[in-house]
Amino acid sequence: MDKIAILCSGGDSCGMNPAIKRFVEYSFSKNLQPYFVYGGYEGLIDNKIQEATYADVTGIIHRGGTKIYSSRSKRFKEKKYRDIAAKNLKNLGITKLVVLGGDGSFRGIDIFFQEHKISFCGIPATIDNDINGTQYCLGVDTALNVIKVATDNIRDTAASFKRAFVIEVMGKGCGYLALVSALTSGAEMCLIPEIPYDLEALKKRYLKEIDQGRNYFIAIVAEGLDNAKEIALWFEKEIGFESRVTTLGHIQRGGNPTVRERLMAYQFATYAIDALSEGKTNAVICYNNGAFDFKNIDEVNAKKYEIDENLLELGKCLLNK
Ligand code: F6P
Repeated sequence: MDKIAILCSGGDSCGMNPAIKRFVEYSFSKNLQPYFVYGGYEGLIDNKIQEATYADVTGIIHRGGTKIYSSRSKRFKEKKYRDIAAKNLKNLGITKLVVLGGDGSFRGIDIFFQEHKISFCGIPATIDNDINGTQYCLGVDTALNVIKVATDNIRDTAASFKRAFVIEVMGKGCGYLALVSALTSGAEMCLIPEIPYDLEALKKRYLKEIDQGRNYFIAIVAEGLDNAKEIALWFEKEIGFESRVTTLGHIQRGGNPTVRERLMAYQFATYAIDALSEGKTNAVICYNNGAFDFKNIDEVNAKKYEIDENLLELGKCLLNK
């Protein structure tokens, strides 16, 4: 029986648990022995690798986070620890690895593969949705829904006062979460690292809108800009509205995975196991324009993720006009 392991690395994201469940069940159906690596690359180094059973994955499909834990491993950046990790896998006879994670995790597994030739398939998993080569990463849909509920709630109180609310959302250096959230929650402002913003132009529009009866503002800003307080102050000074800041923080990482997330997790895990069974050695399973495709890890890691032009176009008036 061939042995296959799964690990989660970097920030956890909703959809990891459904993917882990599918991984175990589908492995058994393909006559593979599934293993869990507990705690990401840290667990790989510390040999926290155990056989997985059906019982391990009962009752997890609806849970956020990851049953097998995650980590951001500094040690995995050093060759001596990657050598230990490879030895641990080889001692157990594990020849295939499924890696759920973001761009940092993919850079790590790329080097690991070049050094040790242990086959892997990457599943893009990060709420930031910032992996080059795929339009969708596991976790982003649930995170967007968490932000939607929070923003709708804030709107209730915003509409009851004459106030401006600045909501900071996650995404590291990427503005995807902020842009999609602003578009889908009817925000008046959206600031993201990818596009220079023009406060003077926005001010002109806002003052006109206030004349026409606007009574509150919702601004969504990406954490990468680190300017939520500054923007709140700007609303007070330049627009004349009392303001409040809400940093949504880690609530965006948790919750009950959406239906879309669960279905995508099942498909990602299935494709990953199929790819490894068919002899792919260093692929990432991507999702673009409604279809799955495999990309070589070099191609994925070669470029920084760029937000789709159509989305940027839709968001233009929230960004700077
Ligand atoms: O990459 C996912 C993410 O949630 C980012 O949006 C955020 O900047 C970061 O992780 C937070 O990391 P940590 O959980 O280590 O504080």
